[in-house]
Amino acid sequence: MASAEQVQIPDGFRLHTENTSHILLSANEAFLNPVQEFNRDLSIACIRTWSDDLNKVKEEKWKVALEKRLARKRLKSMPYNFVLLEALSATGLRSIRYAKEIPLLRYVIANDLSDAATATMKRNIDLNGLGPTDAPSSDPMNENLGKVRVNEGDACTLMYNHRDNSKRVDVVDLDPYGTAAPFVDAAVQCVNDGGLLCVTCTDLAVLATTNFPEKCFANYGGVSVKAEYAHEAVKRQALRLALHSLSTSAARYGRYIEPLLSLSIDFYVRVFVRVHSGALETKKALTKAANYYICSHCQSWYEQPLGRTVEKVHQKSGQVNHLFKTQAGPTVSEKCPECESTLHIAGPMWSGPLHDSAFVDRVLEHLQHNADHYGTAVRMKGMLTVAKEEISTPFYFTPSKLASAFHCCSPSLNNLASALLHAGHKVSRSHACPGSLKTTAPQKDIHDVMRGWIQKNPVKMENISEGSPARKLLAKESHLQVNFKQHPDSITPSSEIKLVRYQQNPTSNWGPGTKAISGSGNKRKRNDEGADN
Ligand SMILES: C[S@@+](CC[C@H](N)C(=O)[O-])C[C@H]1O[C@@H](n2cnc3c(N)ncnc32)[C@H](O)[C@@H]1O
Ligand SMILES: [Zn+2]
Repeated sequence: MASAEQVQIPDGFRLHTENTSHILLSANEAFLNPVQEFNRDLSIACIRTWSDDLNKVKEEKWKVALEKRLARKRLKSMPYNFVLLEALSATGLRSIRYAKEIPLLRYVIANDLSDAATATMKRNIDLNGLGPTDAPSSDPMNENLGKVRVNEGDACTLMYNHRDNSKRVDVVDLDPYGTAAPFVDAAVQCVNDGGLLCVTCTDLAVLATTNFPEKCFANYGGVSVKAEYAHEAVKRQALRLALHSLSTSAARYGRYIEPLLSLSIDFYVRVFVRVHSGALETKKALTKAANYYICSHCQSWYEQPLGRTVEKVHQKSGQVNHLFKTQAGPTVSEKCPECESTLHIAGPMWSGPLHDSAFVDRVLEHLQHNADHYGTAVRMKGMLTVAKEEISTPFYFTPSKLASAFHCCSPSLNNLASALLHAGHKVSRSHACPGSLKTTAPQKDIHDVMRGWIQKNPVKMENISEGSPARKLLAKESHLQVNFKQHPDSITPSSEIKLVRYQQNPTSNWGPGTKAISGSGNKRKRNDEGADN
């Protein structure tokens, strides 16, 4: 393929280059958000890691088969080349990058409803040398159809056409405007067992606020909750609501999801889940759904699982049977046990783990050896390192919001983390919000730490009205001996190095786009990487 300098740019077009790939864009013909380079980079790293994992599994299976058939025939191991379906492709940039940057990819089906988008795609695919070739038509694998194969049509129709076992694809990528909800039912059916589903949702106004509970319920089958930590914890609810909708949609077809990586990034969420079939694990989806009662003042949260499983071991055979039961509730009193404020309900949402830390480790390892392949490698490393360290409790908090509930000055992250660690709890940072903490500590212990902090940094009681929630929090007796001395475990790899996790100084293309971009020139200042800590 020609280098950027060699590409002939027709009148009325401009050249946009991202990593290995060039695309020609004209005003108002297809949508491209350059800020999503991070999303594309991350997706390539995750799909590469997933495909290497899958290839190893296939190789192991081949070895076993070989051992069995050794006497009869010598077989040759072939790498497993997979097929990816990008349901909403726009300019085709993502599909083109996948085709060029993921070694084990056999071909991509790049689809869009818009004829303008598919025309753009075809032009860009040719520009990158990935289109159909004149290879002999007897080619059994139809490789002459090209490495990126364009389809013009509705994403759901295309995916439903691939739901038959023999027609399934290995990876489905959904990267829509707004919600992915209308595409989920088709997507969960057309991925092979062990295949990967990559989903973006940019409708955080629905997923991460309480402005549209009816819309959130319609799209995701659950509701978010108003919390003072609105764009913090609620972002995490967005992830959990999105995963819940994938899990329940998959369960309808005897399938279940295994989240590999779930990130809340800037103005969107992006999740990577493996999809499997299996009766027992599908039933267990019930035990990975919960409602949460969340205090409107102090943000204490109380989990209400929807169901549970009881294991019964058969005396004679030793076989374990799983019985599924409803769950007793409510798990908390009507008012917040900490400050007596109103509790709001959120959910149902996914209560299982958000990431597979071994997978995240492998993506990090891949990144370590291939950092120069990714324009946003620094930020990827930051996000992935924090995600890897995250403990799996549902929500998180920031010291400043916690302090505001007590009307006191804010302890540092380190103060809080150390005190919780000394009290025997685990803590971690969260990838979704600068300066946030997750902990296994119950809310009363977190509040005891705050009361210990206030003993050293008294609040002005005359400024706090009688009977207010803050008064109630302050009046509670502490049961913890609070120790703020620096705990060695409060320094983690992610807090030690200056990691770039959060987008700062956004460019003019910041945010979820709704229309094609116009203008000229493809030079974009890479100011999308801001350091935390
Ligand atoms: C956000 S853009 C995709 C961006 C692209 N994935 C990327 O990384 O640059 C969404 C695209 O979905 C297309 N679209 C919307 N509804 C669709 C449908 N029902 N079927 C197929 N394509 C659709 C739009 O035409 C638009 O080009
Ligand atoms: Zn409360």
